Amino acid sequence: MGIKILGTGSYAPKRILTNADLEKIVDTSDEWIRTRTGIEERHIAADNETASDMAEKAANNALDMAGISVDEIDLIILATVSGDRPFPSTACILQKKIKAKNAVCFDVQAACSGFLFGIEIINSMMNSNPNFKKALVIGVEKITYLTDWKDRNTCILFGDGAGAMVLEHKDGASGVIASKIATDGTYTDILEVPAGGSAKPIDEKVLEERSQYIRMQGQEVFKLAVTSMVNASKEVLEQAGMEASDIRWLVPHQANLRIIKAVGKRLGLTEENVYINVNKYGNTSAASIPIAVDELVRAGKIERGEYLLLTAFGAGLTWGASLIQW
Ligand SMILES: CC(C)(COP(=O)(O)OP(=O)(O)OC[C@H]1O[C@@H](n2cnc3c(N)ncnc32)[C@H](O)[C@@H]1OP(=O)(O)O)[C@@H](O)C(=O)NCCC(=O)NCCS
Repeated sequence: MGIKILGTGSYAPKRILTNADLEKIVDTSDEWIRTRTGIEERHIAADNETASDMAEKAANNALDMAGISVDEIDLIILATVSGDRPFPSTACILQKKIKAKNAVCFDVQAACSGFLFGIEIINSMMNSNPNFKKALVIGVEKITYLTDWKDRNTCILFGDGAGAMVLEHKDGASGVIASKIATDGTYTDILEVPAGGSAKPIDEKVLEERSQYIRMQGQEVFKLAVTSMVNASKEVLEQAGMEASDIRWLVPHQANLRIIKAVGKRLGLTEENVYINVNKYGNTSAASIPIAVDELVRAGKIERGEYLLLTAFGAGLTWGASLIQW
């Protein structure tokens, strides 16, 4: 039993949309966005840049760091809510692009918590089936295609990007020490894209109501996000018999600076131990945690053997936490 993390990778599209740019699109201000969310800018995918294109770049970066051939990958789990097409899965499209011919590939839909769900699934599959030895887990979003650029409540929040991690099954390794995933379907309406699925296919009425885009009850989401991430984090620390002070970095889902700070504070952590990059990316949903982890690794801000506590929250509701050792 055991998992080792071999490498990480990420990618953000070239185009940057600043708060000043948003001031020209909706009735908002740089000051309002910074104060309420901590976001300064976000990356936006080009029209012809797909989720699988971004995933390809993040995956190749992670494979390079891991120093392994793509032929060694036998499992790919890709978390997204903004995949290329309804089917086939974006994981299979990625498989073709990176030529991962020996892998089994599928998508996971757990919104902003998707990457942590991916880690949990990989951990379980690798530790129960000897056929799975090396895996890629990816979080990718072209979420700006679901963004209503006329709704100032939501369009200021989101950005596109991808992050990836290569994991290896290795007896005795402690890459994934403890984890928790959870859902509560009673809150499906507080953060949703109402139309565009089989329940409400896109038609003229949908387009008129703009219900093919993200709708959110911001304050309700805010409160639930803080309590869920704090509780999940405490639970995995307890499972592992560790204290928050043992953690080098808390890496919370990057949705809003005030949420991140509230979670850090309630876990008793100081700002030196809470990783923040929401200012540069906005909320990239399933991509947010792997992008943050890759930044930490590549900037040399985490040493081999140190601990990261990842925690996320998203539509569903979904939430979770993973305690990992780099
Ligand atoms: C969205 C969010 C930033 C709004 O902040 P808030 O402090 O709750 O603000 P409110 O929704 O109460 O709105 C306050 C006022 O600002 C206005 N406002 C909303 N968006 C605005 C914007 N972009 N620019 C300027 N004013 C804005 C509102 O219309 C409201 O005006 P009113 O008082 O005249 O009605 C905050 O609720 C949030 O971050 N929630 C969690 C979102 C999230 O993380 N979602 C993803 C989870 S994975």
